[in-house]
Amino acid sequence: MNGLEARLATAARGRARHRMIRTAEPRPAGIDLASNDYLGLIRDPRLVAAAVTALQRYGTGAGASRVVTGTVPVHRELEDELAALTGQPAALVFASGYAANLGLLGSIGGPGTMIALDAHAHASLIDGARLSGAVVRFWPHNDLAALAELLGAADRRVVVVVESVYSVLGDAADLPRLAELCADRDATLVVDEAHGLGVTGAGHGSVWAAGLAGVGHVLVTASLSKALGAQGGVVLGSDRLREHLINTARTFVFDTGLAPAAAAAAAEACRIVRSEPERVAALRAVAEAIAAGWGRPVAAGAVQSLPAGSAGAAESVARQLTTEGVLVGCFRPPSVPDGISRIRLTARADLDPAMALGVARRVPALLAGAE
Ligand SMILES: Cc1ncc(COP(=O)(O)O)c(C=O)c1O
Repeated sequence: MNGLEARLATAARGRARHRMIRTAEPRPAGIDLASNDYLGLIRDPRLVAAAVTALQRYGTGAGASRVVTGTVPVHRELEDELAALTGQPAALVFASGYAANLGLLGSIGGPGTMIALDAHAHASLIDGARLSGAVVRFWPHNDLAALAELLGAADRRVVVVVESVYSVLGDAADLPRLAELCADRDATLVVDEAHGLGVTGAGHGSVWAAGLAGVGHVLVTASLSKALGAQGGVVLGSDRLREHLINTARTFVFDTGLAPAAAAAAAEACRIVRSEPERVAALRAVAEAIAAGWGRPVAAGAVQSLPAGSAGAAESVARQLTTEGVLVGCFRPPSVPDGISRIRLTARADLDPAMALGVARRVPALLAGAE
């Protein structure tokens, strides 16, 4: 066995569980309560038509980095739409939300900086912080007293990193208090709106809803692959920040630009979110139905999450529902930040609240039977 084979074999033996690549068929025949297509836009004919037009006009790929020949007019159109939707002065689009987080933290981090992340921050934020070369610290989830203590002891410039809505528990960050705390300590606040954009604040996002859009020390990132039903990522903030990223963000400079078809679809999605607030309200109604089915308060975003007694119980319930054509999220260690396994139901604007209520009601009983 060579070195690589030995490494793969050891890793496989030590793995708590094997991940599978899950194919989402039989969509749309089945009931999908697991994907991130929160507004039900992935198959919207308007997004598809915008993508087809861009395909015909620009071809299948950007062909180069945005700073070489990979920028086409639809990228600027998308950036204008995203800035308008979120109330921000400027936007810069990346090939994915992951790349946007790596790019932003890499270009504002570095050895003279401490990056302080909420313990539930997404992998892309953690990787971005580590790759930046900054001193990386974590503070307990949503514990602002612990964050204040960390900031008080900091001996260098600080960047605080949170998500507006967390993807596993579905809970929210207290953005007004975070922004105030960061302003007091002269720290920068980075808010990842991957699960807020298109969902909270009537679709404008949580930063907008908190009145923090365009506030100098509050920077925003988001994925375009969730509520917007497309692909790509964005950093939102001042024109100066945009200029800085164009010159320094490695995942912008050294990565092929976002495919024009994805950019066109995302731009169309931004227009739909702004013009159809009833779509965001429909998503909320489904989220409320799921929470009602569990007798729990509704979480801030689309994700509603119910703890399971064990990983085995969560797996067995997800498997049972899959056999009935209902896809639900099943989160187990090591993919959960606090070690607690969960069944996660994701609300979508194009689902019937009564149906979502019916599925939600069954989950606690199924879990009890599986434990
Ligand atoms: C909070 C958060 N940030 C960033 C990302 C990455 O976004 P993308 O899938 O567009 O790369 C995700 C995706 O799961 C996410 O949940």
